Amino acid sequence: MTSGNAGFKNKTTDNLLILSRITAAVSGLSELDTILKIGLEKTLEFMDGVSGGIMLLDEQKKMLYYRVYKGLSQQHVQGMHLKMGEGIAGKVAQTGKAILLDDISLIPGAARPHLIDMEGLKAFISVPLRARRNVMGVMNCASLKAHHFTEKDMHLLNSIGDQLGIAIEQVKLYEQLQSSREKYRQIARQVIIAQEEERKRISKELHDETSQMLAGLTFNLQALIEMAEMIGIEDRQFKEMLKKALASTVQINTEVGRLISDLRPTLLDTLGLIPAIRQHAESNLTPLGINVSFKYEGVDKPLRPEVEVSLFRWAQGVIGNIMQHSQAKKVSIFLKGDSHKIELCISDDGKGFDPSKLTVKSGRGRGAGMFIMKERLRSVGGDCLIQSQPGQGTTVTATVPLAQASLD
Ligand SMILES: Nc1ncnc2c1ncn2[C@@H]1O[C@H](COP(=O)(O)OP(=O)(O)OP(=O)(O)O)[C@@H](O)[C@H]1O
Ligand SMILES: [Mg+2]
Repeated sequence: MTSGNAGFKNKTTDNLLILSRITAAVSGLSELDTILKIGLEKTLEFMDGVSGGIMLLDEQKKMLYYRVYKGLSQQHVQGMHLKMGEGIAGKVAQTGKAILLDDISLIPGAARPHLIDMEGLKAFISVPLRARRNVMGVMNCASLKAHHFTEKDMHLLNSIGDQLGIAIEQVKLYEQLQSSREKYRQIARQVIIAQEEERKRISKELHDETSQMLAGLTFNLQALIEMAEMIGIEDRQFKEMLKKALASTVQINTEVGRLISDLRPTLLDTLGLIPAIRQHAESNLTPLGINVSFKYEGVDKPLRPEVEVSLFRWAQGVIGNIMQHSQAKKVSIFLKGDSHKIELCISDDGKGFDPSKLTVKSGRGRGAGMFIMKERLRSVGGDCLIQSQPGQGTTVTATVPLAQASLD
Protein backbone atom coordinates (compact mmCIF):
# COMPACT_ATOMS: atom_id res chain seq x y z
CA MET A 1 0.00 0.00 0.00
CA THR A 2 1.33 3.42 -0.90
CA SER A 3 0.00 6.56 0.64
CA GLY A 4 0.09 9.79 -1.35
CA ASN A 5 -0.77 13.44 -0.87
CA ALA A 6 -1.79 16.37 -3.02
CA GLY A 7 1.85 17.26 -3.78
CA PHE A 8 2.40 17.03 -7.49
CA LYS A 9 6.10 17.47 -8.03
CA ASN A 10 6.62 15.74 -11.37
CA LYS A 11 4.09 17.63 -13.38
CA THR A 12 4.30 16.85 -17.05
CA THR A 13 2.78 18.80 -19.88
CA ASP A 14 0.61 15.74 -20.55
CA ASN A 15 -0.81 15.75 -17.06
CA LEU A 16 -1.50 19.44 -17.14
CA LEU A 17 -3.26 18.99 -20.44
CA ILE A 18 -5.41 16.18 -19.05
CA LEU A 19 -6.23 18.24 -16.00
CA SER A 20 -7.19 21.28 -18.01
CA ARG A 21 -9.32 19.14 -20.35
CA ILE A 22 -11.24 17.67 -17.43
CA THR A 23 -11.66 21.11 -15.85
CA ALA A 24 -12.92 22.48 -19.15
CA ALA A 25 -15.32 19.53 -19.55
CA VAL A 26 -16.98 20.09 -16.17
CA SER A 27 -16.79 23.85 -15.90
CA GLY A 28 -20.02 25.67 -16.62
CA LEU A 29 -22.09 22.58 -15.82
CA SER A 30 -24.62 23.11 -13.08
CA GLU A 31 -26.07 19.65 -12.65
CA LEU A 32 -24.22 17.50 -10.13
CA ASP A 33 -24.72 14.10 -11.80
CA THR A 34 -23.63 15.45 -15.18
CA ILE A 35 -20.44 16.89 -13.68
CA LEU A 36 -19.64 13.62 -11.93
CA LYS A 37 -20.48 11.47 -14.95
CA ILE A 38 -18.37 13.52 -17.36
CA GLY A 39 -15.58 13.86 -14.79
CA LEU A 40 -15.49 10.10 -14.25
CA GLU A 41 -15.69 9.17 -17.92
CA LYS A 42 -12.86 11.52 -18.89
CA THR A 43 -10.74 10.33 -15.97
CA LEU A 44 -11.15 6.65 -16.82
CA GLU A 45 -10.36 7.44 -20.43
CA PHE A 46 -7.09 9.22 -19.50
CA MET A 47 -6.13 6.72 -16.79
CA ASP A 48 -6.82 3.73 -18.95
CA GLY A 49 -8.79 2.24 -16.07
CA VAL A 50 -11.49 -0.27 -16.85
CA SER A 51 -13.84 0.66 -14.09
CA GLY A 52 -14.39 3.19 -11.41
CA GLY A 53 -16.86 5.36 -9.68
CA ILE A 54 -17.47 8.41 -7.54
CA MET A 55 -18.75 7.95 -4.03
CA LEU A 56 -20.27 10.95 -2.28
CA LEU A 57 -20.37 11.47 1.44
CA ASP A 58 -23.83 11.59 3.01
CA GLU A 59 -23.19 14.27 5.64
CA GLN A 60 -25.94 13.12 7.97
CA LYS A 61 -25.33 9.38 7.85
CA LYS A 62 -21.55 9.84 7.54
CA MET A 63 -21.56 7.13 4.87
CA LEU A 64 -20.13 6.96 1.38
CA TYR A 65 -22.42 5.88 -1.46
CA TYR A 66 -21.70 5.46 -5.17
CA ARG A 67 -23.32 8.30 -7.07
CA VAL A 68 -21.95 7.52 -10.56
CA TYR A 69 -19.96 4.54 -11.78
CA LYS A 70 -18.69 2.84 -14.91
CA GLY A 71 -17.68 -0.76 -15.58
CA LEU A 72 -18.90 -1.92 -12.16
CA SER A 73 -21.92 -4.19 -11.64
CA GLN A 74 -24.99 -2.86 -9.86
CA GLN A 75 -24.54 -5.55 -7.22
CA HIS A 76 -21.03 -4.28 -6.46
CA VAL A 77 -22.17 -0.66 -6.32
CA GLN A 78 -25.20 -1.34 -4.12
CA GLY A 79 -23.23 -3.45 -1.66
CA MET A 80 -20.36 -0.98 -1.43
CA HIS A 81 -21.61 1.68 0.99
CA LEU A 82 -18.92 2.47 3.48
CA LYS A 83 -18.60 4.17 6.83
CA MET A 84 -15.90 6.77 7.26
CA GLY A 85 -12.64 4.89 7.81
CA GLU A 86 -14.05 1.61 6.46
CA GLY A 87 -12.15 -0.13 3.65
CA ILE A 88 -9.89 1.77 1.25
CA ALA A 89 -12.34 4.47 0.08
CA GLY A 90 -13.52 5.04 3.68
CA LYS A 91 -9.90 5.61 4.75
CA VAL A 92 -9.31 8.04 1.90
CA ALA A 93 -12.45 10.00 2.87
CA GLN A 94 -11.40 10.05 6.52
CA THR A 95 -7.78 11.06 6.04
CA GLY A 96 -8.15 13.14 2.86
CA LYS A 97 -5.14 11.27 1.43
CA ALA A 98 -5.04 9.25 -1.80
CA ILE A 99 -4.20 5.53 -1.80
CA LEU A 100 -2.57 3.52 -4.59
CA LEU A 101 -2.75 -0.29 -4.47
CA ASP A 102 -0.96 -2.66 -6.79
CA ASP A 103 -3.57 -5.37 -6.13
CA ILE A 104 -6.60 -4.64 -3.98
CA SER A 105 -7.66 -8.31 -4.00
CA LEU A 106 -4.62 -9.08 -1.79
CA ILE A 107 -5.27 -6.33 0.76
CA PRO A 108 -6.80 -7.60 4.01
CA GLY A 109 -8.14 -4.14 4.95
CA ALA A 110 -10.31 -3.83 1.83
CA ALA A 111 -14.05 -3.81 2.51
CA ARG A 112 -16.44 -6.44 1.02
CA PRO A 113 -13.68 -8.62 -0.56
CA HIS A 114 -16.26 -10.85 -2.24
CA LEU A 115 -17.57 -7.84 -4.19
CA ILE A 116 -14.01 -6.95 -5.23
CA ASP A 117 -13.36 -10.54 -6.35
CA MET A 118 -16.68 -10.64 -8.15
CA GLU A 119 -15.51 -7.77 -10.40
CA GLY A 120 -11.97 -9.12 -10.67
CA LEU A 121 -10.47 -5.80 -9.52
CA LYS A 122 -6.71 -5.63 -9.05
CA ALA A 123 -4.79 -2.33 -9.37
CA PHE A 124 -6.72 0.37 -7.55
CA ILE A 125 -6.46 4.09 -6.83
CA SER A 126 -8.76 6.00 -4.54
CA VAL A 127 -8.51 9.79 -4.20
CA PRO A 128 -10.43 12.29 -2.11
CA LEU A 129 -12.73 14.88 -3.70
CA ARG A 130 -11.86 17.95 -1.71
CA ALA A 131 -13.14 21.48 -1.59
CA ARG A 132 -11.03 23.64 0.69
CA ARG A 133 -10.58 21.36 3.73
CA ASN A 134 -13.77 19.34 3.34
CA VAL A 135 -13.84 15.93 1.76
CA MET A 136 -17.04 15.66 -0.30
CA GLY A 137 -16.42 12.10 -1.46
CA VAL A 138 -13.89 9.88 -3.21
CA MET A 139 -13.14 8.78 -6.74
CA ASN A 140 -12.03 5.20 -7.35
CA CYS A 141 -10.29 3.94 -10.42
CA ALA A 142 -9.56 0.24 -10.95
CA SER A 143 -7.92 -2.09 -13.44
CA LEU A 144 -8.20 -5.84 -13.98
CA LYS A 145 -4.39 -5.94 -14.17
CA ALA A 146 -2.23 -5.83 -11.04
CA HIS A 147 0.50 -3.12 -10.96
CA HIS A 148 -1.36 -1.22 -13.66
CA PHE A 149 -1.16 2.23 -12.05
CA THR A 150 1.88 4.28 -11.05
CA GLU A 151 2.55 6.93 -8.40
CA LYS A 152 2.34 9.49 -11.17
CA ASP A 153 -1.16 8.27 -12.04
CA MET A 154 -2.15 8.68 -8.42
CA HIS A 155 -0.89 12.26 -8.32
CA LEU A 156 -2.75 13.07 -11.49
CA LEU A 157 -5.94 11.50 -10.16
CA ASN A 158 -5.47 13.42 -6.93
CA SER A 159 -5.40 16.71 -8.81
CA ILE A 160 -8.48 15.70 -10.80
CA GLY A 161 -10.16 14.91 -7.45
CA ASP A 162 -9.41 18.44 -6.25
CA GLN A 163 -10.98 19.94 -9.38
CA LEU A 164 -14.08 17.77 -9.07
CA GLY A 165 -14.33 18.57 -5.34
CA ILE A 166 -14.48 22.29 -6.09
CA ALA A 167 -17.06 21.73 -8.85
CA ILE A 168 -19.21 19.66 -6.47
CA GLU A 169 -19.01 22.31 -3.77
CA GLN A 170 -20.04 25.01 -6.21
CA VAL A 171 -23.09 23.02 -7.29
CA LYS A 172 -24.03 22.40 -3.66
CA LEU A 173 -23.70 26.10 -2.79
CA TYR A 174 -25.78 26.99 -5.83
CA GLU A 175 -28.45 24.47 -4.84
CA GLN A 176 -28.52 25.89 -1.29
CA LEU A 177 -28.89 29.39 -2.68
CA GLN A 178 -31.73 28.29 -4.96
CA SER A 179 -33.52 26.55 -2.14
CA SER A 180 -33.25 29.52 0.22
CA ARG A 181 -34.48 31.79 -2.58
CA GLU A 182 -37.45 29.48 -3.10
CA LYS A 183 -38.19 29.43 0.65
CA TYR A 184 -38.00 33.20 0.75
CA ARG A 185 -40.36 33.45 -2.21
CA GLN A 186 -42.85 31.13 -0.56
CA ILE A 187 -42.84 33.33 2.55
CA ALA A 188 -43.32 36.46 0.42
CA ARG A 189 -46.23 34.72 -1.33
CA GLN A 190 -47.85 33.88 2.00
CA VAL A 191 -47.42 37.44 3.26
CA ILE A 192 -49.06 38.77 0.10
CA ILE A 193 -51.98 36.32 0.39
CA ALA A 194 -52.45 37.22 4.08
CA GLN A 195 -52.31 40.93 3.21
CA GLU A 196 -54.98 40.48 0.55
CA GLU A 197 -57.23 38.58 2.97
CA GLU A 198 -56.82 41.27 5.60
CA ARG A 199 -57.60 44.00 3.08
CA LYS A 200 -60.73 42.12 2.06
CA ARG A 201 -61.81 41.87 5.71
CA ILE A 202 -61.20 45.57 6.46
CA SER A 203 -62.89 46.62 3.23
CA LYS A 204 -65.96 44.52 4.06
CA GLU A 205 -66.13 46.00 7.55
CA LEU A 206 -65.79 49.54 6.21
CA HIS A 207 -68.48 48.86 3.64
CA ASP A 208 -70.95 47.03 5.87
CA GLU A 209 -70.48 49.06 9.06
CA THR A 210 -68.72 52.43 8.70
CA SER A 211 -70.13 53.35 5.31
CA GLN A 212 -73.68 52.38 6.30
CA MET A 213 -73.45 54.38 9.51
CA LEU A 214 -72.12 57.41 7.65
CA ALA A 215 -74.97 57.09 5.12
CA GLY A 216 -77.42 57.02 8.06
CA LEU A 217 -75.76 60.08 9.59
CA THR A 218 -75.96 61.95 6.28
CA PHE A 219 -79.65 61.12 6.01
CA ASN A 220 -80.31 62.33 9.60
CA LEU A 221 -78.40 65.57 9.07
CA GLN A 222 -80.35 66.24 5.89
CA ALA A 223 -83.59 65.58 7.75
CA LEU A 224 -82.49 67.96 10.54
CA ILE A 225 -81.72 70.73 8.03
CA GLU A 226 -85.14 70.27 6.43
CA MET A 227 -86.81 70.24 9.85
CA ALA A 228 -85.01 73.43 10.86
CA GLU A 229 -86.41 75.07 7.72
CA MET A 230 -89.90 73.70 8.30
CA ILE A 231 -90.21 74.79 11.92
CA GLY A 232 -88.67 78.13 11.03
CA ILE A 233 -85.49 78.14 13.11
CA GLU A 234 -83.87 81.51 12.54
CA ASP A 235 -80.47 80.91 14.19
CA ARG A 236 -78.12 81.25 11.18
CA GLN A 237 -75.06 79.97 13.03
CA PHE A 238 -76.92 76.82 14.05
CA LYS A 239 -78.10 76.19 10.47
CA GLU A 240 -74.59 76.81 9.11
CA MET A 241 -73.13 74.31 11.58
CA LEU A 242 -75.68 71.71 10.50
CA LYS A 243 -74.77 72.27 6.86
CA LYS A 244 -71.05 72.03 7.63
CA ALA A 245 -71.63 68.80 9.56
CA LEU A 246 -73.54 67.42 6.56
CA ALA A 247 -70.77 68.44 4.11
CA SER A 248 -68.11 66.83 6.34
CA THR A 249 -70.11 63.63 6.64
CA VAL A 250 -70.54 63.43 2.85
CA GLN A 251 -66.81 64.07 2.40
CA ILE A 252 -65.85 61.42 4.96
CA ASN A 253 -68.13 58.94 3.26
CA THR A 254 -66.53 59.69 -0.12
CA GLU A 255 -63.10 59.13 1.46
CA VAL A 256 -64.26 55.86 3.00
CA GLY A 257 -65.60 54.84 -0.41
CA ARG A 258 -62.21 55.56 -1.96
CA LEU A 259 -60.54 53.60 0.79
CA ILE A 260 -62.85 50.65 0.19
CA SER A 261 -62.13 50.66 -3.52
CA ASP A 262 -58.38 50.91 -2.87
CA LEU A 263 -58.54 48.05 -0.43
CA ARG A 264 -60.71 45.83 -2.54
CA PRO A 265 -61.50 47.28 -5.94
CA THR A 266 -65.14 46.39 -6.48
CA LEU A 267 -64.71 46.98 -10.20
CA LEU A 268 -62.17 44.18 -10.26
CA ASP A 269 -64.79 41.88 -8.80
CA THR A 270 -67.66 43.04 -10.97
CA LEU A 271 -66.27 44.16 -14.33
CA GLY A 272 -62.72 42.79 -14.32
CA LEU A 273 -59.17 43.98 -14.67
CA ILE A 274 -59.39 46.43 -17.57
CA PRO A 275 -62.07 48.83 -16.21
CA ALA A 276 -60.57 48.56 -12.73
CA ILE A 277 -57.10 49.71 -13.84
CA ARG A 278 -58.54 52.39 -16.08
CA GLN A 279 -60.83 53.75 -13.36
CA HIS A 280 -58.05 53.72 -10.78
CA ALA A 281 -55.64 55.54 -13.11
CA GLU A 282 -58.14 58.16 -14.25
CA SER A 283 -59.63 58.88 -10.84
CA ASN A 284 -56.16 59.40 -9.31
CA LEU A 285 -54.16 61.00 -12.11
CA THR A 286 -56.69 63.21 -13.94
CA PRO A 287 -57.35 65.43 -10.87
CA LEU A 288 -53.57 66.11 -10.80
CA GLY A 289 -53.73 67.39 -14.38
CA ILE A 290 -52.08 64.25 -15.78
CA ASN A 291 -53.44 63.09 -19.11
CA VAL A 292 -54.12 59.34 -19.14
CA SER A 293 -54.30 57.26 -22.30
CA PHE A 294 -55.41 53.67 -21.98
CA LYS A 295 -55.17 50.89 -24.55
CA TYR A 296 -55.64 47.16 -24.47
CA GLU A 297 -55.56 44.32 -26.96
CA GLY A 298 -55.60 40.55 -27.03
CA VAL A 299 -56.82 40.20 -23.45
CA ASP A 300 -59.76 37.97 -24.23
CA LYS A 301 -59.06 34.96 -22.06
CA PRO A 302 -60.33 34.92 -18.49
CA LEU A 303 -57.46 35.38 -16.03
CA ARG A 304 -56.98 33.76 -12.66
CA PRO A 305 -58.37 35.95 -9.87
CA GLU A 306 -55.00 36.03 -8.07
CA VAL A 307 -53.30 37.19 -11.29
CA GLU A 308 -55.89 39.94 -11.75
CA VAL A 309 -55.43 41.09 -8.15
CA SER A 310 -51.61 41.03 -8.52
CA LEU A 311 -51.66 43.03 -11.75
CA PHE A 312 -54.13 45.49 -10.27
CA ARG A 313 -52.09 45.93 -7.10
CA TRP A 314 -48.95 46.32 -9.16
CA ALA A 315 -50.65 49.02 -11.27
CA GLN A 316 -51.80 50.74 -8.08
CA GLY A 317 -48.18 50.84 -6.88
CA VAL A 318 -46.93 52.21 -10.21
CA ILE A 319 -49.67 54.86 -10.32
CA GLY A 320 -48.89 55.77 -6.70
CA ASN A 321 -45.24 56.31 -7.69
CA ILE A 322 -46.24 58.45 -10.66
CA MET A 323 -48.38 60.62 -8.36
CA GLN A 324 -45.67 60.84 -5.71
CA HIS A 325 -42.44 61.12 -7.67
CA SER A 326 -42.81 61.67 -11.41
CA GLN A 327 -44.14 65.23 -12.04
CA ALA A 328 -45.47 63.71 -15.27
CA LYS A 329 -47.94 65.37 -17.63
CA LYS A 330 -48.83 62.27 -19.62
CA VAL A 331 -49.25 58.63 -18.69
CA SER A 332 -49.99 55.79 -21.07
CA ILE A 333 -51.18 52.39 -20.01
CA PHE A 334 -51.10 49.42 -22.35
CA LEU A 335 -52.45 46.01 -21.43
CA LYS A 336 -51.57 43.42 -24.01
CA GLY A 337 -52.11 39.69 -24.29
CA ASP A 338 -50.68 37.21 -26.77
CA SER A 339 -50.42 33.44 -26.90
CA HIS A 340 -47.57 33.40 -24.37
CA LYS A 341 -48.10 36.16 -21.86
CA ILE A 342 -50.04 39.07 -20.42
CA GLU A 343 -48.10 42.32 -20.35
CA LEU A 344 -49.04 45.52 -18.57
CA CYS A 345 -46.91 48.50 -19.50
CA ILE A 346 -47.21 51.90 -17.79
CA SER A 347 -45.13 54.84 -19.08
CA ASP A 348 -44.89 58.39 -17.85
CA ASP A 349 -43.12 61.43 -19.29
CA GLY A 350 -41.96 62.63 -15.89
CA LYS A 351 -38.57 63.34 -14.40
CA GLY A 352 -37.38 59.70 -14.40
CA PHE A 353 -34.75 58.23 -12.06
CA ASP A 354 -31.80 55.87 -12.01
CA PRO A 355 -33.12 52.35 -11.22
CA SER A 356 -29.60 51.13 -10.34
CA LYS A 357 -29.77 53.41 -7.30
CA LEU A 358 -32.65 51.40 -5.85
CA THR A 359 -30.87 49.85 -2.92
CA VAL A 360 -33.67 47.79 -1.45
CA LYS A 361 -33.54 44.11 -1.95
CA SER A 362 -35.50 43.17 1.14
CA GLY A 363 -38.76 45.08 1.41
CA ARG A 364 -37.45 47.96 3.59
CA GLY A 365 -36.10 51.43 2.85
CA ARG A 366 -35.95 53.26 -0.48
CA GLY A 367 -37.31 51.07 -3.22
CA ALA A 368 -39.41 48.99 -0.82
CA GLY A 369 -42.54 49.72 -2.84
CA MET A 370 -40.97 48.44 -6.06
CA PHE A 371 -39.62 45.42 -4.25
CA ILE A 372 -43.03 44.45 -2.91
CA MET A 373 -44.62 45.08 -6.31
CA LYS A 374 -42.09 42.76 -7.95
CA GLU A 375 -42.63 40.06 -5.33
CA ARG A 376 -46.38 40.36 -5.80
CA LEU A 377 -45.94 39.53 -9.49
CA ARG A 378 -43.45 36.80 -8.77
CA SER A 379 -45.95 35.20 -6.41
CA VAL A 380 -48.08 34.46 -9.49
CA GLY A 381 -45.13 33.44 -11.69
CA GLY A 382 -44.61 36.87 -13.29
CA ASP A 383 -41.94 39.55 -13.15
CA CYS A 384 -41.41 43.20 -13.89
CA LEU A 385 -38.92 45.46 -15.59
CA ILE A 386 -38.14 49.11 -14.81
CA GLN A 387 -36.74 51.35 -17.54
CA SER A 388 -35.93 54.88 -16.52
CA GLN A 389 -33.28 57.58 -16.72
CA PRO A 390 -33.17 60.98 -15.09
CA GLY A 391 -35.01 63.38 -17.40
CA GLN A 392 -36.29 60.60 -19.65
CA GLY A 393 -39.54 59.47 -18.01
CA THR A 394 -40.23 56.02 -16.66
CA THR A 395 -41.62 52.84 -18.19
CA VAL A 396 -42.44 49.83 -16.08
CA THR A 397 -43.63 46.57 -17.53
CA ALA A 398 -45.23 43.65 -15.75
CA THR A 399 -45.33 40.29 -17.44
CA VAL A 400 -47.16 37.13 -16.42
CA PRO A 401 -46.78 34.01 -18.59
CA LEU A 402 -50.15 32.86 -19.91
CA ALA A 403 -49.58 29.37 -18.49
CA GLN A 404 -49.77 30.94 -15.02
CA ALA A 405 -52.21 33.73 -15.82
CA SER A 406 -54.98 32.08 -17.79
CA LEU A 407 -57.84 30.08 -16.29
CA ASP A 408 -57.78 27.50 -19.11
N1 LIG B 1 -42.51 57.08 -12.05
C1 LIG B 1 -41.45 57.51 -11.37
N2 LIG B 1 -40.85 58.67 -11.65
C2 LIG B 1 -39.77 59.12 -10.98
N3 LIG B 1 -39.19 58.43 -9.97
C3 LIG B 1 -39.74 57.27 -9.61
C4 LIG B 1 -40.89 56.73 -10.29
N4 LIG B 1 -41.19 55.54 -9.73
C5 LIG B 1 -40.28 55.33 -8.75
N5 LIG B 1 -39.42 56.35 -8.68
C6 LIG B 1 -38.24 56.46 -7.81
O1 LIG B 1 -37.97 55.17 -7.29
C7 LIG B 1 -37.96 55.19 -5.87
C8 LIG B 1 -38.44 53.91 -5.33
O2 LIG B 1 -39.83 53.73 -5.52
P1 LIG B 1 -40.60 52.77 -4.52
O3 LIG B 1 -42.02 52.71 -4.93
O4 LIG B 1 -39.87 51.49 -4.46
O5 LIG B 1 -40.42 53.48 -3.14
P2 LIG B 1 -41.09 54.80 -2.62
O6 LIG B 1 -42.20 55.21 -3.56
O7 LIG B 1 -40.02 55.80 -2.39
O8 LIG B 1 -41.69 54.33 -1.24
P3 LIG B 1 -43.02 53.47 -1.01
O9 LIG B 1 -43.52 53.01 -2.34
O10 LIG B 1 -42.57 52.35 -0.14
O11 LIG B 1 -43.95 54.41 -0.37
C9 LIG B 1 -38.78 56.38 -5.50
O12 LIG B 1 -38.38 56.89 -4.25
C10 LIG B 1 -38.48 57.36 -6.63
O13 LIG B 1 -37.29 58.04 -6.39
MG1 LIG C 1 -43.71 53.84 -4.16
